[in-house]
Amino acid sequence: MAKDYVVKDIELAAFGRKELDIAETEMPGLMACRAEFGEAKPLKGARIVGSLHMTIQTAVLIETLVELGADVRWASCNIFSTQDHAAAAIAAGGTPVFAIKGQSLEEHWDYLDKSFLFPEDENGVGANMILDDGGDATLYVLLGARAEAGEDLGVPTSEEEEVIHAQIKKRMAASPGWFTKTRENIKGVSEETTTGVHRLYDLHKKGQLPFPAINVNDSVTKSKFDNKYGCKESLVDGIRRATDTMMAGKVAVVMGYGDVGKGSAASLAGAGARVKVTEVDPICALQAAMDGFEVTTLEDVVSTADVFITTTGNKDVIRIEHMREMKDMAIVGNIGHFDNEIQVASLKNHKWTNIKDQVDMIEMPSGSRIILLSEGRLLNLGNATGHPSFVMSASFTNQVLAQIELWTKGEEYQPGVYILPKHLDEKVARLHLDRIGVKLSKLSDEQAAYIGVSAEGPFKPEHYRY
Ligand code: NAI
Repeated sequence: MAKDYVVKDIELAAFGRKELDIAETEMPGLMACRAEFGEAKPLKGARIVGSLHMTIQTAVLIETLVELGADVRWASCNIFSTQDHAAAAIAAGGTPVFAIKGQSLEEHWDYLDKSFLFPEDENGVGANMILDDGGDATLYVLLGARAEAGEDLGVPTSEEEEVIHAQIKKRMAASPGWFTKTRENIKGVSEETTTGVHRLYDLHKKGQLPFPAINVNDSVTKSKFDNKYGCKESLVDGIRRATDTMMAGKVAVVMGYGDVGKGSAASLAGAGARVKVTEVDPICALQAAMDGFEVTTLEDVVSTADVFITTTGNKDVIRIEHMREMKDMAIVGNIGHFDNEIQVASLKNHKWTNIKDQVDMIEMPSGSRIILLSEGRLLNLGNATGHPSFVMSASFTNQVLAQIELWTKGEEYQPGVYILPKHLDEKVARLHLDRIGVKLSKLSDEQAAYIGVSAEGPFKPEHYRY
């Protein structure tokens, strides 16, 4: 049989497997899902396309989905985030995966396309579920179906959009009607991150979301943990592996003080950097100030700071005029989902010196240089290995519960964007307590009645913000 995967080197599988064994000991939520649902196989019949960073932690997620009965095909959602040994271990285990660290944009979209190509069942159905991170898999199907319906996709506004349009045209020519059929087969999507969730709400608002979606990001046990405590560990890890620079004493600017910004500022402060924050939202600006950070504008500090990190999920946050003003050897990186936070395209005509994979030195017309991490793509996954397993276990347990919900009860949902109920959020947290020796106190019935909750939870009303 022809091999049904694209990985860097299948020989890395044994190394990947050893790291998987360690990760499993740090991912109690996923292991509890295997214990609870492994026998019942609630995902039997589900054919899940995964588009999410192909890391060791994701490998534990994939093997959990498979143990729960799903057929899975996987691509990474970022060209730099794959851990090749993790991809090899998954491919060697028999799950098709298409991901190489450092793949080109063309390969990236070709691999996403390949991850949809399940052999059709007797009813002609291929993929029927999406597990997305950033929304690319959802976008691919929906945009392709619109193109099949005769809609003009317009002139691409970026290099990536050009590649997406080309890939859609390729698939349309090879399999006419494929996008429309695939869109009809998809029962639901679970979305991992803030940026992908924005896209889903936007699609729904425009009446373009044809299936239910679960917003995993806004489970409390996802965004208030992965986005925050995850970045707290992985941001400085990425900067250090990339540059080996001394963090203590440096002036670092964090743009955005949402969940990722809070974790990023804490990461840099924990390493001894003097951290400044920029914000547009007065609430987050006030939080940053009261957490002890100077809140200012990028323009105010751009010529004096040493490290610049964008965390906004917004575009054009660090612009060419900023980079031209930075001091020599300033470090510039992004930890938000897409690379358009930094105007990398406008650096193309400058002199680039590649230092090592995912680290470039770029010379400005004045002769001063900046160090750009991961070509402006999320640096904690490009320059390091992303968040540690323990926090990803919480995120991915939410993913598993969302997939089970959509697969087993999808027809009870109208198209729209939903959040998992609070009792499941609390369950995810509960599954992670033992591993770190947390002892919970228990409410007496009188106490529970006094604060108006059940002694077994949920312990907070929906509007509570944590
Ligand atoms: P968020 O919405 O909580 O925070 C973003 C913050 O940026 C907001 O407070 C907003 O007011 C601020 N902001 C927007 N434009 C700004 C500007 N021009 N200048 C200064 N501040 C600005 O979003 P969250 O959850 O923090 O996510 C941020 C990004 O990080 C998203 O793209 C998300 O998908 C991504 N992400 C990346 C992770 C990683 O491991 N690298 C993990 C989780 C999320």
